[in-house]
Amino acid sequence: MAELTEAQVLGALKQVADPARGADIVALGLVSGVAVKNGHVAFAIEIDPARAKEMEPVRKAAEKVVEALPGVLTVSAVLTAQRAPQPAPQAKPAERPLLPQVKSIIAVASGKGGVGKSTTSTNLALALAGMGLKVGLFDADIYGPSMPRMLGISGQPQSPDGETLLPMENHGIKCMSIGFLVREEDPIIWRGPMVMGALNQLLRDVEWGELDIMVIDMPPGTGDTQLSISQNLPLTGAVIVSTPQDIALLDARKGLNMFRKVDVPVLGLIENMSYYVCPKCGDEAHIFGHGGAKAEAARLSAEFLGEVPLDIAIRETSDAGTPIVASQPDSPHAKAYQAIAAKVWDKVRLIQSGRKGPKISFE
Ligand SMILES: Nc1ncnc2c1ncn2[C@@H]1O[C@H](COP(=O)(O)OP(=O)(O)O)[C@@H](O)[C@H]1O
Ligand SMILES: [Mg+2]
Repeated sequence: MAELTEAQVLGALKQVADPARGADIVALGLVSGVAVKNGHVAFAIEIDPARAKEMEPVRKAAEKVVEALPGVLTVSAVLTAQRAPQPAPQAKPAERPLLPQVKSIIAVASGKGGVGKSTTSTNLALALAGMGLKVGLFDADIYGPSMPRMLGISGQPQSPDGETLLPMENHGIKCMSIGFLVREEDPIIWRGPMVMGALNQLLRDVEWGELDIMVIDMPPGTGDTQLSISQNLPLTGAVIVSTPQDIALLDARKGLNMFRKVDVPVLGLIENMSYYVCPKCGDEAHIFGHGGAKAEAARLSAEFLGEVPLDIAIRETSDAGTPIVASQPDSPHAKAYQAIAAKVWDKVRLIQSGRKGPKISFE
């Protein structure tokens, strides 16, 4: 079968009209970021955020007409915010803070994927909850969401009013992830600007309630997507996770520099998979060298928050949806996360005593 083309997708989307404006969404220039790969299609429909609810049926209809094309396996359409189309000067709406009931937000980032960022975010969030704090965990890694699996949550979020979503909950923390909204087998091939639109929508639509702290599991890397998240979210601070090799390769330094560039305080560095604990004899083996993060943190004048060993129990518990801090809170590994959480919370409070909560908000 001939490979599906962008033109075919746009052709199909001409069947979908914007009900308020009478014309089709392609003619109105609302479709952007069409990506087609091996039968998987993704695109964005740019909308005025005020019309999000009204445009949801349009989004569904758009998915449906593309799904009907021969050779299409999956379709993901997202609504993204667009500035008001008319050039007439408008009174700027009063700036609404993005997450008014969230007292502090920390990003957990890494220079590259696979260093244990999601494992760290989850156990850190659980350790903060163990300190009696109200905690939310937001999975911003929309390319590879892990929270449904790591927190052992299945099913879809409820929307009692048809407008907002209730976060999912397990092990005493609230959580939202794009993974609850798309099927696991759907590859997500959104482009940078679409990512921000989708995250923005997800953050705004979730009824988090009051939170002392929100932990954000960032997408891996230090590219434009990560930069724009760091700029757009009202972050209190950032934590960098790295492995000893990652430190040697200076990937961690890139993460650090990214946050410094946008004036987000770096709370410190965590060394993950720091050493290996032999499951038979309990001996520690420093496979990748040891202490690199501590020395590197000092060189970069960032705090060293702690180290977590490479241990099968950490992987098995998070794969099973029962992260070690929740399932074995008295184990030495859980204690390592708890100590890191205590340091993080101290730093967050210190920063907040100097300023009054998150200030930045979305356009
Ligand atoms: N300290 C650790 N010990 C053992 N396995 C770990 C540890 N940290 C992470 N892992 C495992 O490594 C893999 C990648 O971790 P993950 O947290 O998904 O990384 P990232 O989010 O950075 O891509 C997962 O299978 C996870 O269970
Ligand atoms: Mg991850």
